[in-house]
Amino acid sequence: MKFNIIKKETVTSTNDILKQEWEKFESGTVLTAKHQTKGRGRMGRSFYSPPTGLYFSILLKDVKSNPATLTVMTAVAVMKGIYDTFGIKTQVKWVNDIFYDGKKICGILTEGAFLKDRLQYAVIGVGVNIATENFPAEISEIAGSLNKSIEDSDRLLQNILKNFESELQSIQSGEFLKFYKENCITLNKKVRLISQDEAYLEGEAVDIDENARLTIKTDSGEIKRIFFGEAKII
Ligand code: BTN
Repeated sequence: MKFNIIKKETVTSTNDILKQEWEKFESGTVLTAKHQTKGRGRMGRSFYSPPTGLYFSILLKDVKSNPATLTVMTAVAVMKGIYDTFGIKTQVKWVNDIFYDGKKICGILTEGAFLKDRLQYAVIGVGVNIATENFPAEISEIAGSLNKSIEDSDRLLQNILKNFESELQSIQSGEFLKFYKENCITLNKKVRLISQDEAYLEGEAVDIDENARLTIKTDSGEIKRIFFGEAKII
């Protein structure tokens, strides 16, 4: 796959720009920014994006996978890219949060539009805190950083894209899921599922299936497969 990398200094949100102009850009376009003024996270949250992180979005057109699978596959590419660049092992909290040293150091936001049963386009946004030291009070307990030099952000981007390309090529084989599950801190834990700030289910996270759904076994033994929401480990 050929990536066409466009580098910007400051943007509102790399996801928003690619979404607004997806018809204009070719599949494989990667938009990076040193700083985002309106970085967005999942569930309507903002994503703190000072110039000490790597922020980029990848545009794919006519995609066979679903957004959750793309998020899981991208998480694998990010974890491998971080390892290749810094030798640091990270872990993932289902579905899109990457953790290092007990703190969230990266988030992934996949958005897109379906046409019949295919994704007409997908925009996969990745934000990695590389050298951020101080976070706003409301996230300071959970947010962390790789504590590396921002000078390495380009090398990190290249390594993530290299892994993204090879994971995407083999996406149908489901190989990425093995790595994801091996490095997932949610599995075999008791979790509470939260959506729109409301808890709606509790149980043990027993598996992640090929469609990136979290399998929950409730206390009464019922099996539920979850597509969305946040799984808080309790
Ligand atoms: C999350 O943690 O909920 C997802 C965060 C995703 C952040 C990235 S940074 C690049 C891209 N542009 C955005 O506005 N969001 C994503």
